[in-house]
Amino acid sequence: MEVHNFSEQIIRWYRQHKRDLPWRDTQDPYTIWLSEIILQQTRVKQGLPYFYRFIEAFPTVLDLAKAEEQEVLRLWQGLGYYSRARNLHSCAQTIVSDYQAKFPQTYNELIKLKGVGAYTAAAIASFAYNETVAVVDGNVYRVLSRVFGVKEDILSSKGQKKFQQLANTLVPEGLAGEYNQAIMEFGALQCTPKSPACLLCPVNQLCYAYQHNRQHELPVKIKKVKVKKRYFSYIVLRRGNFLYMKKRSGKDIWHGLYDFYLVENKHVIDGLENIDDFLVTEVMTNTNPTVEMSALYKHQLTHQQLEVRFFTLNMEKGSLADSLLTEKGLSVYSIEEVKGLPKPILIDKYLSEVIF
Ligand code: ADE
Repeated sequence: MEVHNFSEQIIRWYRQHKRDLPWRDTQDPYTIWLSEIILQQTRVKQGLPYFYRFIEAFPTVLDLAKAEEQEVLRLWQGLGYYSRARNLHSCAQTIVSDYQAKFPQTYNELIKLKGVGAYTAAAIASFAYNETVAVVDGNVYRVLSRVFGVKEDILSSKGQKKFQQLANTLVPEGLAGEYNQAIMEFGALQCTPKSPACLLCPVNQLCYAYQHNRQHELPVKIKKVKVKKRYFSYIVLRRGNFLYMKKRSGKDIWHGLYDFYLVENKHVIDGLENIDDFLVTEVMTNTNPTVEMSALYKHQLTHQQLEVRFFTLNMEKGSLADSLLTEKGLSVYSIEEVKGLPKPILIDKYLSEVIF
């Protein structure tokens, strides 16, 4: 197989610029595995002392397997995400019990191990056994997206597949280990996220991003925003043709718009009796209202999904303390006035379906 010009340049660059790191002068799968698991938690500089402490305490996979879990966790202390340390320990025990203390030698076998994903399996298979399989980590996404102009979202599974396929075509047979180290190192030192050293780059002539000045737009990462669910119960206080409304303020949604007295709950409310609120109790005891409960309104905002019920309380007689209404920010408006107030779409919808 012909070596891609890109891969050749990357390896040549690596031979000149690589950092001297302790897991690089070995083909021992245990050392490589240990370093990669630590490096998934932290950067090289912060990871080095952990790596040295682990290797000193547990020079072989057998030593690690025999250790007390407490000891492993103590050495891991500060790296966070402690399930990784537990997986590390339990994986060492599996290798001893199921594999005679010898690491499996192929990507397909390695990936079956606990805590070993596609990246780690590819790293061990290529660094220790030179298997022709590409590692794809954040550095590799960045380099490949820029050089080859791949605009697929690196957080989507479709994008990840595409990058893995492209990456696999670039690994030179017989040089997989060195090439994989090289492209990661190239991403870490040369093709950096914020200020890539493009002028001095050995592949700038074939780099899409450099040629089109798109370095800062690649790779494409589309973060999915989490949609928060909220459950609103609106208490619509009504007396004849008058409604009590309030102007929203503060940092929440709909700042400056008018709505009704709002009780927010942790789940859907399907009866007024399930609302525990002082004002509601006051209204019920002092004004003897008839109560109408609306259907459930679902309302989608950019980052929030609202599930809303309106409880219309038609107050017949009796009255409410002015001080309570003032405290809650409520003012009385005729239905005609309500029509003219700025309101959220959802409130408008309720008003036109139930009140107007
Ligand atoms: N980050 C993750 N794996 C690495 C490795 N093998 N060398 C340098 N940095 C890395």
